Amino acid sequence: MRTLLFDTDPGVDDAVALAYLLSRPDCELVAVTAVHGNAPVATTADNARALLRLAGREDVPVAIGAARPLAQEPAYAPEVHGEDGLGGQRALLGPPTPPSGSRAVDEILRQSERHPGRLDILATGPLTNLALALLCDPELPRRVRSVTLMGGAFDMPGNVTHAAEANIYHDPEAADLVFAAPWPVTAVGLDVTLRVALEEEDIASLAASDHPLLAAVGRMCAHYAEFYRRFLGRRAAPQHDALAACALFAPHLFTLRRRRVRVERRGEYTRGMTVSLRGGAGEAETAVAVDVQAEEARRHILESLAALAEAGRR
Ligand code: BDR
Ligand code: CA
Repeated sequence: MRTLLFDTDPGVDDAVALAYLLSRPDCELVAVTAVHGNAPVATTADNARALLRLAGREDVPVAIGAARPLAQEPAYAPEVHGEDGLGGQRALLGPPTPPSGSRAVDEILRQSERHPGRLDILATGPLTNLALALLCDPELPRRVRSVTLMGGAFDMPGNVTHAAEANIYHDPEAADLVFAAPWPVTAVGLDVTLRVALEEEDIASLAASDHPLLAAVGRMCAHYAEFYRRFLGRRAAPQHDALAACALFAPHLFTLRRRRVRVERRGEYTRGMTVSLRGGAGEAETAVAVDVQAEEARRHILESLAALAEAGRR
């Protein structure tokens, strides 16, 4: 059983990741913290609450986090995720949700104190909330069991610039703090996430599900797959964020390599690049996902989502 805090910017693939986490009997989801990224933070926080409401999981607290990166203006991704962050489907998830009033940094620190040495963090957006929590309490890494993040492009080009992947590009300073901190970090980057996509027939069968959350994520993925058509040459929905969640619950699907990762912050052309450095004994190392059993991972995600639908019928 993992005690998990999910830091996220929903986001179509974040929504699939959330559904995956809710499907896992071995995941105790203690809190969701929202961050700017795919859409403004007020939108991503509302999306997280609406998705949980649709799943009947309003017991999971949602705390609102950083509205902007540490050292640059925020930028969103409406072309990928729609203006509403959910592929134009937000209106189907019901009315706006009331904010809880709790703040992401406080929630991260509180959960780490409530579950010292047992809290796993999954981060699938820009890393601003985690960096702010580290700045507020440098002892935080001692209380956290692991950080698994979707971010980086290690041995391939990025998806925002040739150098940078979106979650790192949207707050390079924060990402560098997270990679340099003394906690075990696993990075699941584009090298593996672009290889695990839901195909058109998977998306259609999710959209036809009798589970309201799965039906909604199916419709979101249809929008998102249309965006990816020009990159992949087919309508398919890469599962960046759900795959990062799989690294926690199905680690056998991955090959990891230990690297000392830092983030380029000053490069004129390479800002946000994840760089693997040599040497540096005693410095923080990251387990970087360099390979994945892609077809098995796709099936694993679909089977987990099917189990959520099955549980909903009981
Ligand atoms: C990452 O960026 C966002 O668009 C996705 O939600 C994912 O977390 C992929 O680069
Ligand atoms: Ca995301």
